[in-house]
Amino acid sequence: MKRRRFLTLTAATLATPALLTRRAVAAEPGAPLPIPQVMEVGPGAGNTLTAMKGTREFMSGAASDTLGYEQDYLGPLLRFQRGRTANIDVVNRTDDPITAHWHGMHVPGHLDGGPQLAFDPGRTWSPELPVDHPAATLWYHSHVHGRTADQVYRGLAGMIIIDDPDAVDPLPRDYGTNDFPLIVQDRNFDRSGRMSYDPGMMDRMQGFRGTEMLVNGAIRPTLTVPAGLVRLRLLNASNARMYDFSFNDGRQFHQVASDGGLLPAPIAMNGLRLAPAERAEIVVNFTDRSAVRLVSRNVSSGGMMGGGGMMNGGGMMGSGSDDAPFEIMSFDVGDAAETGPATLPASLPSDLPDLGAPVRTRDFTLNVHTGSMMGGMFNNLIGRDGQIMGINGESYDMGSIDLAVPMGETELWRINADMMVHPFHVHGTSFQVVTMGGRAVDPARIGMKDVVLVDGPTEILVRFDKRAEKETPFMYHCHILEHEDAGMMGQFTVG
Ligand code: C2O
Ligand code: CU
Ligand code: CU
Repeated sequence: MKRRRFLTLTAATLATPALLTRRAVAAEPGAPLPIPQVMEVGPGAGNTLTAMKGTREFMSGAASDTLGYEQDYLGPLLRFQRGRTANIDVVNRTDDPITAHWHGMHVPGHLDGGPQLAFDPGRTWSPELPVDHPAATLWYHSHVHGRTADQVYRGLAGMIIIDDPDAVDPLPRDYGTNDFPLIVQDRNFDRSGRMSYDPGMMDRMQGFRGTEMLVNGAIRPTLTVPAGLVRLRLLNASNARMYDFSFNDGRQFHQVASDGGLLPAPIAMNGLRLAPAERAEIVVNFTDRSAVRLVSRNVSSGGMMGGGGMMNGGGMMGSGSDDAPFEIMSFDVGDAAETGPATLPASLPSDLPDLGAPVRTRDFTLNVHTGSMMGGMFNNLIGRDGQIMGINGESYDMGSIDLAVPMGETELWRINADMMVHPFHVHGTSFQVVTMGGRAVDPARIGMKDVVLVDGPTEILVRFDKRAEKETPFMYHCHILEHEDAGMMGQFTVG
């Protein structure tokens, strides 16, 4: 009886139409893509990243309350150089505690900006970051436990590019000319055109998905690119939505980098999946000068009942594969490129370490607390401190360390998920994916990662070379931000 009621409710929620059909206000797409300001961060004083409140008219005439670093929404593009120290003063001028987590960077726990490093309004946090990371596209965002989803949604996120002065980058690399950041987010807008975030219980379970697309904070913008090779640094900074990117004319493009940096060689493809927090750099050839749109199909996250659960994706939610693609942004092509390579190199200066054989194995199961859900319905499915998600049966507890991992030893982590697919993220390192969905994968095609989509049994090889003390441990968690906030997170020391 209760179960049937649950299923009915689920069906109703999941059947809510696909993206872009619930828009209450006519959006104004097509404005130029905003290009984030660059902040080169090196040693010494003077680099300030102030988290502040703001307003932005995503739709004209409707000012939304937002958060940003140094601006009303999102933040500057931080550029760090490998081998150099980066000093940055993060100032909190919001109304709540915040952090700045350097997602994907290999820095010790006390510099990582995790939940233990939250600091209050009026305070400044001044980490000195040793930049010890291959050239890569990373990002930063607030990471206050229980508030991450809301703070990132309102705008506390930005991109990081790491440059390696000792490595030749043979790809287009002229920022704002043939090398562009694309921070992709889905958002909801209310009837008056204001950005809104009010996740109900089902949104917390599924992850919150918006009905309108933003890139760098603008609704379905337009970018004019040169007629040549163009590098696009895609960051899925959405709370929960997965994308299956392609171009509306089906054109081929090449992936050249994943989360941790360059791949050994460009990989030709027509479509690319990115789960929340994943990055991919792609190179697109615009020499044919035809205007084109970046689109995505709806990707099922499995739903509460989907993806290996009681009902497969084809049932209630739809696999998404037969939905019409929705638009993310468009490209106009201008004059021929004046700079940059005319062709893609056959190989890239990637930096894939040999992690060797694992010395131990650990198992992680990402759980929705289903026992109480089925038995007691919604009022009863809450775990510790109101948390409804967990890992290995436990919801996140800021006060307890889940693992102590020895430094410098390669481990095999086996990750499984019940009910849904989840993007699993680990702080403090990059890892190699060994199997995904039970199938072996070629590391050369995936590169070094810090997020992996767990869609069936997944194995990663991981090694930590940075220390994390128990006061400032590293996190592992689902990067669906509503799941993370609801307790699908654990923490560990490295020593
Ligand atoms: Cu993107 Cu724990 O973070
Ligand atoms: Cu992270
Ligand atoms: Cu999750």
